[in-house]
Amino acid sequence: MTAAAAAALLLLLAAAVLPPTPTSAAPIPGLDAFLAQQARLDPQATNDSFLSLSSSLKKSLSLSSAAAAPSSLLSLRLSVPLTVKLVGPSFSSSSSTAASLLHSYLSAAVSSDHFHVITPFSPHHGNHRLALSHSLHLDVSLSSPSLFSILSEALRSELSKTTSTLRSPLLSVLHSPIDQIIKQDFEKQKPIEGIYLYLLDLGPQSKPYAYNYGSGESSPAFTKCTGTIWTGKDRYMWIDLSAGPVDYGPALSGDGVLPRGESHPLTALHGRPKSQKALFSDLASLVWSAYQVLLVPSLRIPVPFENSLIVQLIHVYGSATKDTDGLDLKSIERTFMDEVNDGGLLLGDQSLSFKNYEIKYSECSICSFAISRASTSYTARYLFDNYTLIVSEYLDSKRLHQILSESADEFRKVAGVPEEDFGRVLPVYVFDLDYSSILLLDRYHQSVAFKDMVVAVRTKSTQTVSDYSCNGRHVFTQTRELERPLVGSILQSMWGVSPTHLSWSPRHNNTLVDYTWSVGQTPFGPFSEISSLSFVQKDAARRNVLVTSLNYSITSAIELLESIAAHGGDIKLLRQARHTEFIQRWNLFKYKLDKAVSALSHMDFEMALYFLRSSDSDLYAIHTLVYHASQELEASLVCFKDPPFPWASVSMSAVVFFAVIYAYVKREKFFRNKRKQF
Ligand SMILES: *[C@@H]1O[C@H](CO)[C@@H](O)[C@H](O)[C@H]1NC(C)=O
Ligand SMILES: *[C@@H]1O[C@H](CO)[C@@H](O)[C@H](O)[C@H]1NC(C)=O
Ligand SMILES: *[C@@H]1O[C@H](CO)[C@@H](O)[C@H](O)[C@H]1NC(C)=O
Ligand SMILES: *[C@@H]1O[C@H](CO)[C@@H](O)[C@H](O)[C@H]1NC(C)=O
Repeated sequence: MTAAAAAALLLLLAAAVLPPTPTSAAPIPGLDAFLAQQARLDPQATNDSFLSLSSSLKKSLSLSSAAAAPSSLLSLRLSVPLTVKLVGPSFSSSSSTAASLLHSYLSAAVSSDHFHVITPFSPHHGNHRLALSHSLHLDVSLSSPSLFSILSEALRSELSKTTSTLRSPLLSVLHSPIDQIIKQDFEKQKPIEGIYLYLLDLGPQSKPYAYNYGSGESSPAFTKCTGTIWTGKDRYMWIDLSAGPVDYGPALSGDGVLPRGESHPLTALHGRPKSQKALFSDLASLVWSAYQVLLVPSLRIPVPFENSLIVQLIHVYGSATKDTDGLDLKSIERTFMDEVNDGGLLLGDQSLSFKNYEIKYSECSICSFAISRASTSYTARYLFDNYTLIVSEYLDSKRLHQILSESADEFRKVAGVPEEDFGRVLPVYVFDLDYSSILLLDRYHQSVAFKDMVVAVRTKSTQTVSDYSCNGRHVFTQTRELERPLVGSILQSMWGVSPTHLSWSPRHNNTLVDYTWSVGQTPFGPFSEISSLSFVQKDAARRNVLVTSLNYSITSAIELLESIAAHGGDIKLLRQARHTEFIQRWNLFKYKLDKAVSALSHMDFEMALYFLRSSDSDLYAIHTLVYHASQELEASLVCFKDPPFPWASVSMSAVVFFAVIYAYVKREKFFRNKRKQF
């Protein structure tokens, strides 16, 4: 980020006015207790809770005067609690002004924004915005001086143990001793509400240093990227502002902001001394960036809820003997299953399974067809002794995707992949080719995620120089190691988790690339070697399903209201008993959505899922009410042969069409209701 952009951002943030928080309807006594009981008795919300409402609760619901208006749904907002802990005497020297300064910069920044999708399902309409918005709920505090002294003690001892190398001007210190201490402090902060961000200023040290996230040092063939941040498995992260400055990003040219130079907020404490105001405005933009990228990341794709998730790994191998080094399905599976067993990734009664299939390349004509059709090449000019033209081959992932989609059936036959009847099935095609040269997807990638499949490729060649560099050295890609790229791609396709460096920017109307948060614990990007997930990915996986579902409920309820309005409004369309039920249903629906959003704000994903599923019955019932009423209205129009307006029948067929679509989407529930009735 340039200084000008940072300044502009802060101006913008400072100018943003906090929109009024939506006032939720007055609580209805007894309803909370009723719904809590329902959640216990029927956690999957299979039964329509409306049917077991007491008459007094129904009465209160019909008295609740909240009008059925789209605006009440569009103002639903998730509040994201973030606690910033300032560690170090430089923050406490000016005591509370530090905290209040950061607080005031960031409170000004808390204009709410919507959740966004990088690749919507219908790219032609280009709607990247979900109907749900979010806002930062910030708490800033100084940490205890003892945390600072323990941390600086640990850092000093690590620094004295580390020997400097010629490769880098920065001493590379293991992150784990520091992380252990912060993790302990985090665990003491009970009750934990939201996410903790520790900003460390451990003061000047004997030598400049940065953190090393793996074991071992850089060698000529392995570039270990060091960094100054860490995101935990639990909901905390830390940034050591006195470490670094580090740099990582595209080597020569290409998309992507790299944290280099004095203007990047990660280097706020380096360079010329700054006024306290300037320092805190830098920190504010750092916190703001962490919020956008890590706490409310864009969805890669929308992800509807499915009970059963199945990953089918289809290994197309070229050589006579199958080599699973670097492609160990068990290790990929373990990465996900560890999180599942830890209560992450899955919601409610969801299940996840991995299945392995193999195809011999020489016995699969469709495989070689796909590879030859997708092969293409590019020519680049390199300066060696003279300018030399080099032609390199690569695979066009979009073309490969198209061929694989078209011949999915044939693939299934060759590999003996059974047809799965239920759930979300993600085929992962791995082409393990007997070539000696480098062959990557779209020139740079070992693996590419699509909304309905993952494709990956490797050849005999073991490594290549990538177009990325960190700390002044090129990053090497170990081209036979596919496990980490596959974990990242499966996260994108199955759970819609965005890579740490990608986000959708409505202001640019484009996807932004920024590598600031792509070191440390992230399974994405070229700068980290870690495939385990941090709280960022684990939370995103579950939140993505819930916000997709909320978007669906909100949008279809609004469409329903619009079609009621087209019929002259609810009072005209729905008579007496039907109108009473409509008001009751609507208020119950809105109440449950409010509860779902509130549960999401408290990161109680299971409760949010319960309320969303439960609200589906009400939405469905409202659809049915409106559908019957509009049919009757149409019948009466036919009798009197006096259509009040020419587009009435058009909008009515829209309602019918919508109801059919809705019934189709909700067919499971629909059929269950049918079964119950007949
Ligand atoms: C749903 O309702 C039926 C009949 O009203 C009842 O038999 C069944 O136990 C209920 N299911 C749950 C999970 O509460
Ligand atoms: C460029 O240099 C290479 C050796 O580095 C040599 O083989 C080639 O002939 C040179 N090409 C031209 C056009 O001079
Ligand atoms: C965003 O870009 C797409 C194509 O890239 C274009 O069709 C669309 O109109 C743009 N939207 C806005 C709001 O500029
Ligand atoms: C939100 O839901 C509506 C209704 O299902 C859908 O048309 C729209 O594309 C969704 N928005 C995004 C960004 O996926």
